[in-house]
Amino acid sequence: MRTVDLIWKKREGGELTAAEIHFLIQGFVDGTIPDYQMSAWCMAVYFQGMTFEECTALTLEMAHSGAVVDLSAIPGIKVDKHSTGGVGDKTSLVLLPMVAAAGVPVAKMSGRGLGHTGGTLDKLESLPGVSTALNRDAFLAQVSRIGIALAGQTGNLVPADKKLYGLRDVTATVESIPLIASSIVSKKLAAGADAVVLDVKFGDGAFMSQYDKAVELARTMVEIGKRAGRRFIAVLSDMNQPLGNAIGNSLEVAEAIATLQNQGPADLTELCSILGGYMIWLGEKADGPEQGKELALEMLRSGKAFAKFREMVAAQGGAPESLDHPERLAAAPFIQEVVFPGEGWVERVDCRALGLTAMTLGAGRARLDDVIRPEVGLTLKVKVGDRLTPQSVLGEVHAASPDVAARAAREVLNAIHLASKPVAKQPLIAAVIS
Ligand code: URA
Repeated sequence: MRTVDLIWKKREGGELTAAEIHFLIQGFVDGTIPDYQMSAWCMAVYFQGMTFEECTALTLEMAHSGAVVDLSAIPGIKVDKHSTGGVGDKTSLVLLPMVAAAGVPVAKMSGRGLGHTGGTLDKLESLPGVSTALNRDAFLAQVSRIGIALAGQTGNLVPADKKLYGLRDVTATVESIPLIASSIVSKKLAAGADAVVLDVKFGDGAFMSQYDKAVELARTMVEIGKRAGRRFIAVLSDMNQPLGNAIGNSLEVAEAIATLQNQGPADLTELCSILGGYMIWLGEKADGPEQGKELALEMLRSGKAFAKFREMVAAQGGAPESLDHPERLAAAPFIQEVVFPGEGWVERVDCRALGLTAMTLGAGRARLDDVIRPEVGLTLKVKVGDRLTPQSVLGEVHAASPDVAARAAREVLNAIHLASKPVAKQPLIAAVIS
């Protein structure tokens, strides 16, 4: 087999066999296929696409390019979740304890934030003492003991994706649905769960902003997951405005704690209960997603989800008492209210711009090696459809210095667009693909 022939075949719109894809991925990982040939192949995929057979072969090849987590020692159906990333997305912190409290074991490996979107590990680590660096044995032992662990990646999972993503990032080939779907699903397969609920976000603050493209991505991932022998369900959720009210690590943790105490923002509670409903159903603790949703909400109302979160925090080195005083979490030295001068109905929110504002305050990373500040960020209490009167307080900016706070407050104001007539509220969930 010659790499050049496989590049040619894909360039001409041909379908590669599983053996040909194996040859490409193996060769790329072991260094016998150089970056320039793999880049050319990625570009050919970008223009020609891939069939579901090819996507599945690529995904399985990548999933098995390194270590694979074996969760079989943990009793029960293990259900994972994945979000394609958004602004203010603290869903995992609420959802996973809800699901674990309902009796579905959760062994979740999360990532860090980059660009305008945040990462669950950074958020969790803003709780004093909490470690997300669990080794494989500690991770599995914790899930067996208390039914939940939320940690960074353990072991060398999916090295092919790391290498391929690095290449795609510098060759303008990230935005290819077959390559994105294979990248995400390969990591989920390697993480070992039996079933996966995908939160595929669309809208201005999402990785995949166009709704149609997000649907196509969701369909592709669900199909690959099924062909790989796992149950996959995708929920399409709106990211045209931040989820909840807080953006920034400590602020988001405080909001997650309030939500776990059943006092959180309505949109965050709704998303967590819907995703939780599917996870609990897939974990066979409910007869359907609706019953699963009721059970998920019951875990909030009864305090069982919060108790599970406390258990997880304690198991990972934190002090559960700190959760009783979220106001004592790291606080920024300057807090400025954002006051809106105009009047009307909120028509649109520049969600990505708000994510970038939080990032430049220090809540996120522009580059992988940037150090984040847990205490900074912003809150935005208004949603599309809300009516604003002059001097309405939109929220707050939490910053390291007064001038940075003032600049960020101006950016928040610029991100809110008003209409002179009432504006309909948008549904949070647009579709479910199974
Ligand atoms: N997220 C991933 O994990 N992979 C991609 O290719 C794009 C987004």
